[in-house]
Amino acid sequence: MWNNALRFWWAFCVYGVQMRKQITILDIQKMKVEGTRISVLTCYDYPTARILDGCGLDVLLVGDSLGVVVAGHENTLPVTLDEVIYHTRAVMRAEPRALVVADMPFLSYQVDVGQARLNAGRLIKEAGAAAVKLEGGANMVDAIRAIASIDIPVMAHIGLTPQSIHRMGGYRVQGKKEEHAEQLMADAMAVQEAGAFAVVLEGIPQKLARRITEQLSIPTIGIGAGPGCDGQVLVLHDILGLCEKYSPKFVKRYADARSLIADAVNAYITEVKSGEFPTEAHSFN
Ligand code: KIV
Repeated sequence: MWNNALRFWWAFCVYGVQMRKQITILDIQKMKVEGTRISVLTCYDYPTARILDGCGLDVLLVGDSLGVVVAGHENTLPVTLDEVIYHTRAVMRAEPRALVVADMPFLSYQVDVGQARLNAGRLIKEAGAAAVKLEGGANMVDAIRAIASIDIPVMAHIGLTPQSIHRMGGYRVQGKKEEHAEQLMADAMAVQEAGAFAVVLEGIPQKLARRITEQLSIPTIGIGAGPGCDGQVLVLHDILGLCEKYSPKFVKRYADARSLIADAVNAYITEVKSGEFPTEAHSFN
């Protein structure tokens, strides 16, 4: 009987450990080889990380989009490294199985490679992320190479790069003209060559995204780049319908969380005003 109990315990441990196995950049890269699509969403806090990780997402991205959807800024430019560290720590407390990638905010990697290394290192050492993401193509290869050279995995991000909003003159689809498309292809090859383990393709024509995906050996994660990428990423608040400002064409809304929250809060206000809440069940004697 004890033999059986031990066998059961051993199987439970092995199976349990396998179930909890942390997703690494190697798993993400293997998914491209195997043709398994990679699921990515943004995540900025502990309770959400618990939910998203429980759903089995492959990657949680602590994106600098938090500046817009959580902090209410107009764009991502004001986000600081300390803010990303704060949110990444909260996500890491959920002990997610998913790979956690932390975004490098504007001016945390562009000044020089020493600064880029140090700030990427803080996201790993202080915040607990397993990888960092930064925006830019051929113009950022020095930063990518420097960070990757100290064994910090880098996810690159090309195309519509929100930190370049002023150069782009707004959030516009990139790479529509032939010469711009060729530049984006060159950017994709450059970030791969510099050591990026994956690359986000944002706001580019779907044919171009498919062509880049076929050319690269590292996975492409699309956002507004069509179905030909190796994976997809969206901002969580967009798919939940939490943002009232604007909803880009590439977003699919899977829920109306604003109404859900408003309904709950309205019911609470009504019950507080009427005295219906709290009842005996919510009170101490
Ligand atoms: O900041 C972010 O959330 C991002 C994704 C939208 C790719 O960069």
